[in-house]
Amino acid sequence: MDKIIFLGIESSCDDTAAAIVTDDGRVLSSVVSSQTDLHADFGGVVPEIAARAHAERLDIAVEEALKQAGVGLRDLSGVAVTAGPGLIGGVMAGVMSAKGIAAGAGLPLVGVNHLAGHALTPRLTDAVDYPYLMLLVSGGHCQFLRVDGPEDFTRLGGTIDDAPGEAFDKLAKLLALPQPGGPSVEAEAALGDPDRFALPRPLLDRPGFDMSFSGLKTAALRLRDQLIAEQGGLRQADRRDLCAAFQAAVAEVLAEKSRRALAAHPVPVLAVAGGVAANGTIRAALEQVAAQAGAEFLAPPLRLCTDNGAMIAWAGIERFRQGHRDGMDLAARPRWPL
Ligand code: KG4
Ligand code: ZN
Repeated sequence: MDKIIFLGIESSCDDTAAAIVTDDGRVLSSVVSSQTDLHADFGGVVPEIAARAHAERLDIAVEEALKQAGVGLRDLSGVAVTAGPGLIGGVMAGVMSAKGIAAGAGLPLVGVNHLAGHALTPRLTDAVDYPYLMLLVSGGHCQFLRVDGPEDFTRLGGTIDDAPGEAFDKLAKLLALPQPGGPSVEAEAALGDPDRFALPRPLLDRPGFDMSFSGLKTAALRLRDQLIAEQGGLRQADRRDLCAAFQAAVAEVLAEKSRRALAAHPVPVLAVAGGVAANGTIRAALEQVAAQAGAEFLAPPLRLCTDNGAMIAWAGIERFRQGHRDGMDLAARPRWPL
């Protein structure tokens, strides 16, 4: 059978992305145009600004992805696009662009669930076999998934409030550290004492795989205000110790829930995806949990862990191989549970 080559398009949040991927797992190109600077002054992604930027940048990203891969539209086997979940304006821009390309070039169209894109990434990067466990932890997502096939996901649990990346970002804001909060909190934490402050481990006393991170942030806020009231301000050491305590709490919650998930679902691989997977302390904690359970720990390279077009192209190839095709009635879905 001929090689399958897919274009993948992603525009569900604040990254405009396009990539060319083959069915033997080669990423021929992966273009990601980040909108972080456009939203920086607003303290979050502004849907209207995001949608406009996607509409302006999508065709350019696709053109660049084709150019970098050294292929033309006629070389493609199909077009995959994120059809949800996400900010509806951005998803619509991506779906419309993909429909135009598919119709114009006479190519099959495959709509992809954004979360499936993240969840299937270990198969693109490491050719992992089903089944495996996936912990998806980013600024917008927090899901524990058991993956048994390209369309076969079981959601074991997730956050009942904030995503962990969001919690890192909010802590950074509380402590006047630069955004995105994850990397700046990690840098401060490296110089701090994780044992000086006792922060809660939300939901750890309850069975199941649900998590909660907003209480952690509230506890950190209370500690900060108490320190300011007592000392008239925050010292550098206070900031560092708070970051270290916070990071240790998040790492412990994720690790303990992963330990239980592996005990309940003894699969050979624990994989992670999402920006929070960049955190060294969290990674080390998960690695240890996997080793103790006799499982392999897999973290795809960061550029494929965060939002990108390659994971969408790959998930599209997997669905395409299952015989899935979409028509011009493919809908953009703001909500689309796995
Ligand atoms: O996957 P991602 O790039 O975007 C989405 O949320 O979809 O994840 C970004 C999130 C941000 O909240 C950021 O603070 C967090 O990942 N993050 C980290 C680290 N690097 C990025 N969190 C903890 N430690 C890090 N080193
Ligand atoms: Zn994502």
